[in-house]
Amino acid sequence: MADIRVLPSRSAYSTPGQLGARIVRGEGSYLFGADGTRYLDASCGSGSLIFGHGDEKIIDALHAQSRQLTLFPSRHFSSEIVERYASRLLDFGPPSMSRAIIFSSGSDAVEASLKLALQHHFAAKRPQRRKILGRNASYHGNTIAGLAAGGFVARRKPYEGVLVPCAKASHAHCVACEFGLQPQTCALECAQSMEDAILEEGPENVAAVIIEPVVGAALSAAAPDSRYLPRVCEMCRYHGILLIADEVMTGFARTGRPFASMHWSVEPDIIICGKAISAGYYPLSALLVNERLVHGPLADQYFQNGQTFACSPAGAAVGLTVLDKLADGTVAANATRMGELLRASLRKEMPGELISRIRGMGLMVGFDISTFAFQNRRPLLPGRYSDRFQRAALKRGLVIYASSGSAGSEAGDHAMLLLPLIISEREVQEATGSLVAAANDVLESKNSWY
Ligand SMILES: Cc1ncc(COP(=O)(O)O)c(C=O)c1O
Repeated sequence: MADIRVLPSRSAYSTPGQLGARIVRGEGSYLFGADGTRYLDASCGSGSLIFGHGDEKIIDALHAQSRQLTLFPSRHFSSEIVERYASRLLDFGPPSMSRAIIFSSGSDAVEASLKLALQHHFAAKRPQRRKILGRNASYHGNTIAGLAAGGFVARRKPYEGVLVPCAKASHAHCVACEFGLQPQTCALECAQSMEDAILEEGPENVAAVIIEPVVGAALSAAAPDSRYLPRVCEMCRYHGILLIADEVMTGFARTGRPFASMHWSVEPDIIICGKAISAGYYPLSALLVNERLVHGPLADQYFQNGQTFACSPAGAAVGLTVLDKLADGTVAANATRMGELLRASLRKEMPGELISRIRGMGLMVGFDISTFAFQNRRPLLPGRYSDRFQRAALKRGLVIYASSGSAGSEAGDHAMLLLPLIISEREVQEATGSLVAAANDVLESKNSWY
């Protein structure tokens, strides 16, 4: 059914969960509406704002650099601050990363990663390696190529027909195993399904495999079995296929490590960075490129992917400040500790009939919204349970990141809490309290939903 709304505003976006409130200010972990309402922001610019709102240090760095130099023709010149930033970014990632290419959004970095993989094989005189493999229930940004590589059914739907076919392996979401198996005791059939897809497509035709190490929007913080990513990495290496880790949502300490792939000591060929790379203060993204690629066939080639806002000095100034703030590891340690606390308190306090499978790593926290509570009622369309839950949370002063599509196709409603990584215990308790209150509101009002 078409779902075309008359937008309440003249900007392009309107979300179904919104209450119509205008946001006028952000401070720390909170957003403030024009009517004075305060919201705890557990959406955080879709996971970007790791230091919350109004961070003076980052704002000052952006101002200072903007006064000095904001953009320059990067085809002709280099810039001291961009070079310094690239080096610091590489130091922050796994040791084998040796080039950083700087862009301005997660989607264009995903697109660039796919093009880099294709150009790599082209330069290596393997022009038949054109296929990209992805996974079910994954999200790799909003470009046509990113949507094609991804498996987020609802977001792909309006564009079907022009999306290049990309074979999909199973996601590795153990609690909803597509093979009905138990984690840790299975034979890792999800990884095997990747190898099956590679063999089906012909390894000699496959350029790259793209994976979110912990799945964000499409599965709400679904982490794989600890054996999974090393296994996929090994099979990619064996078949000469590049492994691209899309860490747009998981990078920059969100999961308690600089990058989520580092939890399993995996060094992908390309790491895609976005969102928290600038803590939300500047449109910034990057690719970290493994030395295997840098010193390979691409060594003397120009990457055919120029962009106006690539190599932004203003972005570099913001990015450097973010790295300074992450340098001593206390923010990552807080993400680990507060994430554990949040999951533990949600498990203890949330009504299980509505909220299940509480999961995640660090402060990437997700859960499923069970439709069991609504048994005997006419089912709502996919996504409507999470919309309503999101709206109930907003009424309780909490902004969450709601989504759907975790149960194959568009069904399976779920949501994430993506709080700032500097959050305090008190704020974790507040988030839990608001979420529990919202869940109880939903359960109490469910009879009037139809
Ligand atoms: C894993 C992942 N990749 C790519 C993107 C696209 O990033 P952006 O929205 O900055 O274009 C997102 C955004 O949510 C994402 O979560």
